[in-house]
Amino acid sequence: MRAKQQLKITMVVLLALLLLTYEFGNARCLPNHDDYSVDLQALLGFKQGITSDQNGALSNWNTSTQFCRWNSVNCSQARPWRVTGLNLTRKSLSGQISSSLGNLTFLRKLLLRDNNFYGPIPLLNDLQHLEVLNLNQNRLHGIIPDGLGNCSSLMALALSNNNLTGMIPPTIGNLSSLLGLDLSQTNLAGIIPEALGKIATLQIVDLSENQLKGPIPNEFWQL
Ligand SMILES: *[C@@H]1O[C@H](CO)[C@@H](O)[C@H](O)[C@H]1NC(C)=O
Ligand SMILES: *[C@@H]1O[C@H](CO)[C@@H](O)[C@H](O)[C@H]1NC(C)=O
Ligand SMILES: *[C@@H]1O[C@H](CO)[C@@H](O)[C@H](O)[C@H]1NC(C)=O
Ligand SMILES: *[C@@H]1O[C@H](CO)[C@@H](O)[C@H](O)[C@H]1NC(C)=O
Ligand SMILES: *[C@@H]1O[C@H](CO)[C@@H](O)[C@H](O)[C@H]1NC(C)=O
Ligand SMILES: *[C@@H]1O[C@H](CO)[C@@H](O)[C@H](O)[C@H]1NC(C)=O
Ligand SMILES: *[C@@H]1O[C@H](CO)[C@@H](O)[C@H](O)[C@H]1NC(C)=O
Repeated sequence: MRAKQQLKITMVVLLALLLLTYEFGNARCLPNHDDYSVDLQALLGFKQGITSDQNGALSNWNTSTQFCRWNSVNCSQARPWRVTGLNLTRKSLSGQISSSLGNLTFLRKLLLRDNNFYGPIPLLNDLQHLEVLNLNQNRLHGIIPDGLGNCSSLMALALSNNNLTGMIPPTIGNLSSLLGLDLSQTNLAGIIPEALGKIATLQIVDLSENQLKGPIPNEFWQL
C-alpha cells in the first residue's frame, strides 16, 4: 500500500517536472530549431538551383558554418537568427532561382541583379517583410506572379532586362508602400493597370521598351 502511494507521488513529481521542462522548452529564450532549419533549407534549396558559380560566390555555403556567416547572407542582429538580406549582385551565377526563398519569412532585401538566372520568377507570396526585390539583368522567363502583390512591404521592385511574358498583374496595385518600379525591357504586353497609378507612394516608374498598349493612367501625370 505504502509503496503504491510512493509510486503515485513519484509519478506526480515526474509529471510536474515534465510540464516544467515543456514550458521552458517553449520559452522564447531558447533557439527555435524549426525556424532555423526552415531558413537553412531555404538557402540550401536556392544553392541547389545554381548550375554554375564560376567565382565561388557560394563556396562557403555548407553546414560546417552557421548560415549567417555565409557569403552574401545577412541575418537579424538578435535571436532568432533569421535571414534578412541576400545580396548576390553581379556574381556570375547561373541557374534557376528556387522558390524555397519564399520561405525566408524575415527577408527584407533580395538582390540578384546582373547574373545569368533563367527560368521563372520565384514565388515569394509570403514575404511580408520584403522591401527590395531586384532581379534586373538576368534571363528570367514567364509571367510576373500575382502573388508579388502580397509582399505588402515592397518599396522597390526591379525586374528590368529579362524576357518575361504576359502583362503587369493588377495585384501590383496592392503594393501600397512602393516607391520605385522598374519593369523596362521585359517584353511585357497588355495594358498598364489603372491600379498602378493609385499607389500614392510611387515616385519612379520605368515601363519603357515593352509591348504595352492603351492609355497611361491619368494618375501617372501627377507623380
Ligand atoms: C565548407 O566551407 C568552408 C568555409 O566555411 C570551406 O573551407 C570548406 O572547403 C567547405 N566545404 C565544402 C565541402 O565545400
Ligand atoms: C547587409 O548588412 C550590411 C551591414 O549592416 C548592410 O550595409 C547591407 O545593406 C545589408 N545588405 C542586405 C542585402 O541586406
Ligand atoms: C550589394 O552588392 C553590390 C556588389 O557587391 C554592392 O555594390 C551593393 O552596395 C550591395 N548592396 C547592399 C544593399 O548590400
Ligand atoms: C517551405 O518550407 C516547408 C517546410 O517548412 C516545406 O515543406 C516546403 O517545401 C518549403 N517550400 C519550398 C518552395 O521549398
Ligand atoms: C494573397 O493574400 C490574400 C489575402 O491574404 C490571399 O487570399 C491570397 O491567397 C494570397 N495570394 C497568394 C498568391 O498567395
Ligand atoms: C523571349 O522568350 C520568347 C518566348 O517566351 C522567345 O520566343 C524569344 O526568343 C525570347 N527572346 C530572347 C531575347 O531570349
Ligand atoms: C489585390 O489586388 C487585386 C486586384 O487588383 C484585388 O482583387 C485583391 O482584392 C487585392 N488583394 C488584397 C489582399 O488586397
